[in-house]
Amino acid sequence: MEYGKFPQYRPRRMRDGELARQMIRETELSAKDFIYPLFVKPGTGRRDEIPSMPGVFQVSLDMLMPEIEELLDCGVHYVLLFGIPAEKDEIGSSAWDEHGVVQEACRIIRKNAPEMYIICDVCMCEYTSHGHCGKLDENGYVMNDETLELLANEAVSFAQAGAHMVAPSDMMDGRIGYMRHALDDAGFSNVPIMSYSTKYASGFYGPFRDAADSTPAFGDRRAYQMDPANALEGVREAMYDIAEGADLVMVKPALPYLDVLSAVKRETQFPTVAYNVSGEYSMVKAAAQNGWIDEKRVVLELLTSIKRAGADMIITYHAKEAARWLAQSRA
Ligand code: PBG
Repeated sequence: MEYGKFPQYRPRRMRDGELARQMIRETELSAKDFIYPLFVKPGTGRRDEIPSMPGVFQVSLDMLMPEIEELLDCGVHYVLLFGIPAEKDEIGSSAWDEHGVVQEACRIIRKNAPEMYIICDVCMCEYTSHGHCGKLDENGYVMNDETLELLANEAVSFAQAGAHMVAPSDMMDGRIGYMRHALDDAGFSNVPIMSYSTKYASGFYGPFRDAADSTPAFGDRRAYQMDPANALEGVREAMYDIAEGADLVMVKPALPYLDVLSAVKRETQFPTVAYNVSGEYSMVKAAAQNGWIDEKRVVLELLTSIKRAGADMIITYHAKEAARWLAQSRA
């Protein structure tokens, strides 16, 4: 034994065996972290798998409860509803139809599964015939201010149907303040707003647009969604929405923007959600189906990395499987 010699630090000591690793683990995933996106559509007896998203289904209202029960069974208590409406028009008016597909879904879930927390995505693109997220002028340009009222109508309509929370994903400027006032005036001052504050114009939404039938008929969304090159602007976007009354902010997509996620969480100190989007899901599924990766291992690693980067909640199509895997590993 050589006294006086500086002892060598050995990080390995705490890596040997699961119990040692657990003592110093910084990030622990849980089913409580997950929000599951669910696509509801009209008709009966429909449970259609989305071809580019194996394991994800569009369901008609009569098939909704089995889906909800499966989620609760896995320990997932948060659902994010997207509607595929029967009718589309220029301004997306079916979005605030009292008997719209999402409104009906809210009532069904409220009645049959009061323990499920319902978040409704608020956007025009699923409801407009042209697939853009707002009202267009004669040149096909999305008119920001004219769209705010439509979004507010949609949000209030979802709240009236029983949504616990609304989540505007349209990226119009000023929508959070406008929607907050509209909700308050309609008597819903307790309905929180989860803002898709920091949403990038991303190629990773491709499979979702098939799923929600919301691909723009012309052009793209770069005039209102963010430039992937900008991180500081992503933090500013979150700050604006907080100033307007957002209760939670979001970074979307998740994996290509972990730096932004981490900065938004650190700079705002606000509850921050990450959306692990459709394209991120489809890539993992495709590789897994080819036997190129170990799906369970990769999914849990990816979700852990999103949480480690700063997400308080993760919206993910992997929610059910991940929750089951986590439950198994604890058993
Ligand atoms: C817009 C919306 C989109 C997603 C969620 N809300 C698509 C878009 O902006 O084009 C994408 C989600 C995903 O890719 O999983 N209503």
